[in-house]
Amino acid sequence: IRTAAVIPAAGRGVRLGPGTPKALRALGGTPMLVHAVRAMAASRAVSLIVVVAPPDGATEVDRLLHEYPLADRTDLVVVPGGQTRQESVRLGLAALPDTIDVVLVHDAARPLVPADTVDAVVAAVRAGAAAVVPALPLADTVKQVEPQPQGTPEPVVGTPERALLRAVQTPQGFDLETLRKAHDTVVEGEGATDDAGLVERLGAPVVVVPGHEEAFKVTRPLDLVLAEAVLARRRA
Ligand code: CTP
Ligand code: MG
Repeated sequence: IRTAAVIPAAGRGVRLGPGTPKALRALGGTPMLVHAVRAMAASRAVSLIVVVAPPDGATEVDRLLHEYPLADRTDLVVVPGGQTRQESVRLGLAALPDTIDVVLVHDAARPLVPADTVDAVVAAVRAGAAAVVPALPLADTVKQVEPQPQGTPEPVVGTPERALLRAVQTPQGFDLETLRKAHDTVVEGEGATDDAGLVERLGAPVVVVPGHEEAFKVTRPLDLVLAEAVLARRRA
């Protein structure tokens, strides 16, 4: 079995605020994307990494990544991404050779995922699951609301039982054929916000394995503060 990792890194990072594309912002002095690439390369199973760069930035990203060499056993390819995460992942999958049969999809915006979490996802796919997502129980109670114009309080429609909910992370792991079929079948804008969601729409089973606190997504400025602190603790 050969395993590849696709890293969507083509987003701008609007919620993080103006500046360099999010994946290229520094974390502990090193671009976030480099941390994410190293996190995938740390899993011995991963033999190929496809980085999906901003549409107009593939050459620059390729040059940047060559400044941070990986162990010999891991190949690295950079391809340009698209306007949405779903399109970027599809473009990354298109770059995988036929020799690959298991794929991880990992957000560049989750730079600190531990190797054990990556390995657990790979192991579950290799053990026969077609789609595997790492996830954690929620700390907050979740309300479903009836959305209203800004400034108007939103009526609560319901409260799903918190113990049954999981907050989903990446890397998500897939049988490559299953994920390709999902991306080819499910139309953009049908509301799937992760890759496993596309597989669910095919009617194929998806399973959850334990995620990790340090696999959180860097989305807003406060997340960068947390990421810097986690990195400093690791280096101490
Ligand atoms: N992504 C991508 N292509 C896009 C949009 C997002 O490859 N067109 C990637 C991002 O680079 C990121 C991952 O998908 O690694 C998760 O997306 P998110 O955290 O939402 O990042 P951004 O879309 O960049 O952030 P924002 O939504 O705040 O603009
Ligand atoms: Mg986004």
